[in-house]
Amino acid sequence: MLLKLPVGYLILVMWSALTSVSSRTRSWRILGVMLSSEDHGEPRLVLEPIGFVRNALATKVEAARQPQAADGTPAQIELLPGRHFEHALEDLASWKWIWVIFWFHHNPAWRPKVLPPRSVTGRKGVFATRSPHRPNPIGLSVVRLERVDGLTLHILDSDMLDGTPVLDLKPYVAYTDAHPDAGNGWLDDADPVRAYDVHFDALAVEQMQWIEARTGLPIEARIRATLALGPEPHPYRRIRRLKEGMQLAVKEWRARFSVEGREIRVIDIASGFRLSELAMRS
Ligand SMILES: C[S@@+](CC[C@H](N)C(=O)[O-])C[C@H]1O[C@@H](n2cnc3c(N)ncnc32)[C@H](O)[C@@H]1O
Repeated sequence: MLLKLPVGYLILVMWSALTSVSSRTRSWRILGVMLSSEDHGEPRLVLEPIGFVRNALATKVEAARQPQAADGTPAQIELLPGRHFEHALEDLASWKWIWVIFWFHHNPAWRPKVLPPRSVTGRKGVFATRSPHRPNPIGLSVVRLERVDGLTLHILDSDMLDGTPVLDLKPYVAYTDAHPDAGNGWLDDADPVRAYDVHFDALAVEQMQWIEARTGLPIEARIRATLALGPEPHPYRRIRRLKEGMQLAVKEWRARFSVEGREIRVIDIASGFRLSELAMRS
C-alpha cells in the first residue's frame, strides 16, 4: 500500500510508534505499511515489533559490544500475544542459534562516521561497523537459543538492552551463514589493539568482593572488560583523569587506577553515590 501523507504526519506516526515501546499493551497496528515521504520522495516503512527483550541490562555501558563477548548473558524475548506467534515459533527450538533483528530504540540520531570502542585508527563509516548509530537503527545479533516456553524465548549471549523492540527472528543456518574465512575487515589492520593487562591491588579486591556480595554487581568483570579495551576517556567508557591517576565509573562506583605501558593497576574503589541518594536510602 502506498499512501501520500504529509511529512508531519509521518513523523507523528513514527514518534508514536517509538514512544509506545515502553507501553507494551498498546500495539502498533500499522504493520508493514509503506508510506511515501515528501522530503526525499522515497518510500518509508513503519514496522511493528513482534516482542521485546527482557533482561537486567538497563544502560548501554552494561551491555556487551557483541553477543560473542556477552559471556552467556541471559535474556528473554517475550513475543506479543494475540498475533498467532505461537504458530510462527513452531520448529524454531530445533535450532541452537538464532538471529535476532531488533530496533536500537535508545538511539535517537545516527552518525555517518563513528568511533569504534577499540579504534586506534580513528572514525569509520557507520556502514563499515556494527555501531547502533545507524540511519535505520536496526540491530542484528546471533544468540544461543536455550528453549522456547510458549511465547517466551530464553536466550544466552544477549548484547541487547532491556525493553529492546524485536522486529524478527530467523534461524542461524550454519551451511549458509558461517564463513570461517571471512576475516575481520579493518579490524585486521589496526583494531583491536592488544588488550591491556588489568591487575587489582589487595584493597580493591576486598572492596570489590564487598560490593559483589551486597549488590550482585559483577564489578570486577565489568572493570576488567572495560579497562582491557584501553584506559583513555572514550564515548563508551566512563573514564576521567584525576589530579592523581585516573578513574573509571561503573554504575555508582568509582575505580581509581594507574597505567604503565600496557599494564593497568586498579588501586581502590570509592562510592560515587551522592549524599542526597544516601540520605534517601537510609
Ligand atoms: C555494537 S551494538 C551491536 C548490536 C548487534 N550485535 C549488531 O551488530 O547489530 C551493541 C551495543 O548496542 C547497545 N544497545 C543494545 N541495545 C540497544 C538498544 N535497544 N538501543 C540502543 N543501544 C542499544 C549496547 O551499548 C550494546 O553494547
